[in-house]
Amino acid sequence: MGLQEILKFIFVSVLLRAANACSNGQCRLLDECASDADCEAGLYCFSCALGFSGSRCVRSIFTDQFKLLNNSLPFNKYAFLTTHNAYAIDGEPSHTGVPRITLTNQEDSITQQLMNGARALMLDTYDFEGDVWLCHSFGGQCYDYTAFEPAIDTLKELEAFLSANPSEIVTLILEDYVHAPNGLTKVFTDAGLMKYWFPVTSMPQNGQDWPLVSDMVAKNQRLLVFTSIRSKQQSEGIAYQWNYMVENQYGDGGMKAGSCPNRGESSPLDDKSKSLVLVNYFRSTPLKPLACQQNSADLINMLRTCYGAAGNRWANFVAVDYYKRSEGGGSFQALDTLNGELLCGCNDIHTCVPGSTSGVCTPPT
Ligand SMILES: *[C@@H]1O[C@H](CO)[C@@H](O)[C@H](O)[C@H]1NC(C)=O
Repeated sequence: MGLQEILKFIFVSVLLRAANACSNGQCRLLDECASDADCEAGLYCFSCALGFSGSRCVRSIFTDQFKLLNNSLPFNKYAFLTTHNAYAIDGEPSHTGVPRITLTNQEDSITQQLMNGARALMLDTYDFEGDVWLCHSFGGQCYDYTAFEPAIDTLKELEAFLSANPSEIVTLILEDYVHAPNGLTKVFTDAGLMKYWFPVTSMPQNGQDWPLVSDMVAKNQRLLVFTSIRSKQQSEGIAYQWNYMVENQYGDGGMKAGSCPNRGESSPLDDKSKSLVLVNYFRSTPLKPLACQQNSADLINMLRTCYGAAGNRWANFVAVDYYKRSEGGGSFQALDTLNGELLCGCNDIHTCVPGSTSGVCTPPT
């Protein structure tokens, strides 16, 4: 072959290869891809050096358990994707005029998190500049260089989502440093969120089931708020988190394979007088290249460990960093597993047979 033929041969081979490979929205889970547009709906093109070579299509969106099955069960019979430090987002501009020196835990906006299926947001609330701000700080004090944004901005995004999605329920879990009297009540009122408020008086105190999701939707009581400050339950009617929920250790202490200890503020995980179970699975210091591996098999293994530690109860909330990073299914698959186990005793909600008894599963496809 002359040089020209060789070049022609290479050119045709490349063309054929490209023609064989998927593109244009036809690439399926874990197929190689060059851009998001190559992947099927619900997937995006991502590279996880710890999990696979090159770039492949991985999941970008949750399965809506209410739409796939139904919402006629108690709230505590479902599991919800939870974004840790949901407000600590890459690229959030400084609102104080001072460059921020702090870490991020998420990569897309609150609105995108909600659209992709986050149904619980962890937010750190502080008194700052005479208002309530979201900060990633230390010592209970927000600084110019640790401040992300005024809470009202985030809460308005949440209000827009709840208004546009009248069958969805969102939970806020606040690491709360607000001491201004009625500071939180004011910002929730200003954001237009009080009309969705789920009253603390309707929350079960002794391990009973929660109200049915369908009833919560019918009453428009679709916002659950939990604070880490005990006294606010009395003073502002904001639920004290650990009256209702058990929670494992957060950060590195919650990532030791095979153990699921409770965090200090929570009762032991097997305390069944609390009807909700929260599992944290994120590092003390977020590291993006590790997140895709953590959010995959390691996460599901920990959920199984915590199931045992919680007295054979599956998690209702699963809190992760960089929730879209995975080796394929990631946090979305973990939620499908939890909802499958919770709703029908199957290890994926897609294998539940609507209306049939527990443990009847269709074969995986
Ligand atoms: C809703 O789904 C659950 C889980 O599959 C099932 O047990 C229940 O019977 C269903 N309820 C209705 C009204 O279909």
